Amino acid sequence: MIFDSHSHYDDEAFDEDRDELLSSMASKGVGDIVCAAASWDSLKKIKNLCEKYPFLHPTYGIHPENVDELTPERRPVLEEMIKTLSPVAIGEIGLDYYYDTSTKEAQKEIFIYQLELAKKYDLPVIVHSREATMDTLNIIKEHTPQKKGVIHCFSSSLEIAKEYVKMGFYIGVGGVITFKNSKTLKEVTKGIPLSSILIETDCPYLAPVPFRGKRNDSSYLTYVAEEIASLKEITSEEVIKETERNARTLFNL
Ligand code: NI
Repeated sequence: MIFDSHSHYDDEAFDEDRDELLSSMASKGVGDIVCAAASWDSLKKIKNLCEKYPFLHPTYGIHPENVDELTPERRPVLEEMIKTLSPVAIGEIGLDYYYDTSTKEAQKEIFIYQLELAKKYDLPVIVHSREATMDTLNIIKEHTPQKKGVIHCFSSSLEIAKEYVKMGFYIGVGGVITFKNSKTLKEVTKGIPLSSILIETDCPYLAPVPFRGKRNDSSYLTYVAEEIASLKEITSEEVIKETERNARTLFNL
C-alpha cells in the first residue's frame, strides 16, 4: 500500500469533501498517511482528524513560517500534546528563509527547541527547509535526535542529500519529481539508495504532473512512484513497497 509520509488534510482545501476523500483512500491503494501539523490552530485539527481515522498518524510541531505563534506560554501546551497524544514525529519544523514572516534568529531558536523535544521524547522529526540548506544541516548536526527524521520536500543538492543519508535521515520526495524542471531532485533520487527515500504529497500542495497546480491528494502518489521507478529502472510496485517499509521503520508503525 502507498504510505504518504507528509500531508495536511486539516487544510481548508479539503473542507468540502474531506470525509468522502479520506474514506476512498483504501480503495485507491493508499494505506497509512502522516498528517503534519504546521500552525498553532492545526495542532487541534490534526488531533481530531487522526482520532477519527486510524490510518492517519499525527505529528505535532510548529512550521518555521509560524514560529511567532509558539509563545513561551504555549510551549508547555505543545509539549503536553507530544507527551500524551502519541504523535509519530515532531513536525513540521525547520527553517524557511524564503518568506521573512519571522527573523532567522527566531526560527533557529524554535527549531532547536523542537529538535530538543524530539530528543527528550525519543521521536523522529519532519524537517522543512527552504533556502536555508546550510543552517538546517548545521543545526541538525548539533542537535541530532536519536530517532533521526526526514527532510521533507527535499530541494537541496545530491551532495547534501548524501550527508543526510550518512547521518541516517530519510529524503522526502513528492510531486516536484514529476516536474520537467526538477533536474536536481531527479539527480538526488538517482544518487541515493531507495532505502533512504520516503514518498509524500504535502497535499493540498504540489500535485504531480498531470495534475500540477490542482489540489493534491495521497492517491496521486502513484505518479511519484512511477517517476522514481523509471529513474531507478525498477517497478513502481517496488518503489511503493520499499518506501512503505522505510516509513514504517522511521515512524515506528
Ligand atoms: Ni508540509
